[in-house]
Amino acid sequence: MGCGAGAILLHLARGAAIAVGTDINPRAGAFLVLNARLNGFDNVEFRCGDLFAPVAGERFDLLVSQPPFMPTPPAASPAVFRDGGARGDGLWRKVVAGAPDHLTEGGVAVIVGEIGGGISGHLSQAGGEPRDGCQSLCLIGQPVSAEEYAIRASIGALKHGYARYRGDVRMLLRHLRACGLDLLAPLVLTIRRTAQAGGWTLRSDKDVWEDFDLDHALRHIDARLALEESASTTSFVAAADLAAATLIRYRSVGAGDGRDESAHLHLPRGALRRGLEMPLAEWDALEALGGGIELRHEGDWRPVDAAGRGEPGAAVAGAMTRLFEAGLLVVQERAPLAPAPAAVSAGQGGD
Ligand SMILES: C[S@@+](CC[C@H](N)C(=O)[O-])C[C@H]1O[C@@H](n2cnc3c(N)ncnc32)[C@H](O)[C@@H]1O
Repeated sequence: MGCGAGAILLHLARGAAIAVGTDINPRAGAFLVLNARLNGFDNVEFRCGDLFAPVAGERFDLLVSQPPFMPTPPAASPAVFRDGGARGDGLWRKVVAGAPDHLTEGGVAVIVGEIGGGISGHLSQAGGEPRDGCQSLCLIGQPVSAEEYAIRASIGALKHGYARYRGDVRMLLRHLRACGLDLLAPLVLTIRRTAQAGGWTLRSDKDVWEDFDLDHALRHIDARLALEESASTTSFVAAADLAAATLIRYRSVGAGDGRDESAHLHLPRGALRRGLEMPLAEWDALEALGGGIELRHEGDWRPVDAAGRGEPGAAVAGAMTRLFEAGLLVVQERAPLAPAPAAVSAGQGGD
């Protein structure tokens, strides 16, 4: 949707029986048709019109859209390929809202956009919320400041001279500030139509456009669901599989009096934002294992103490077994591990 001259569409058309490109600009369609012919495609069709109008009542296995998403000052010269409304999110939010009704069961939509927000970080209201009959995952990349954004986004004006460039930067910056957009970040939204609904927003410090991989996004969704359905070690394994060999953070929660103590897991940056409660004993097992995962302490973490608080038993055995079985924790060498907490070494062995 908003196929332009077809760079994305033709790439996807290689794996499709039929690929339909839509755009409000008939000139874009003419170029799409030309590009399709030049590249030997006979399965590509163009339809001209506003957003979903040309595909009313139809459903697709894959819907991909990179609509215009730049915040547009009222005085800017109009550009249909670029203008996303005052805050930049006018069009992509409409695509997100309409996508579920145009997906087959199990069909997937991938929508690229940008999201702005204040310093306080309300970027997260980005579209990763649950919607009926769908799962959605919103990956948000590293934000840049309004200043940096205005400088970068106006670069095209340089061809008209420095004075024009400077004027455009100032105009855009004034506009961004007036809209309360102190920060702007790229986003990729993946929506999958399925009976089992859920919605999540994840922040990544990567370039979500460059690194985006649909299979990975769908695996995120599955893992996320597993986590929410049962806060068990097994679901942790499913989630952590996304993040093997990277960092896991945890901190203790509870009153600090030894009762009801558990650890709170955060999977790494770019993975899952929300955590999972686990018995401290399982954490000690993880720490003793070491290999492949770096554990970092946060907050008021207190390890198992000499009095045996958090005594690992069957829970540790179970956790270790499941982690190994899942192939998540692999001890690379059978060199001695860091000394395990006494209670752990008394259990199932540290390797
Ligand atoms: C950023 S370009 C996307 C280019 C495209 N991804 C490609 O591979 O070349 C955005 C496109 O959305 C189209 N567009 C803008 N407003 C639209 C609307 N309301 N409905 C459909 N297409 C729209 C523009 O004409 C433009 O071709």
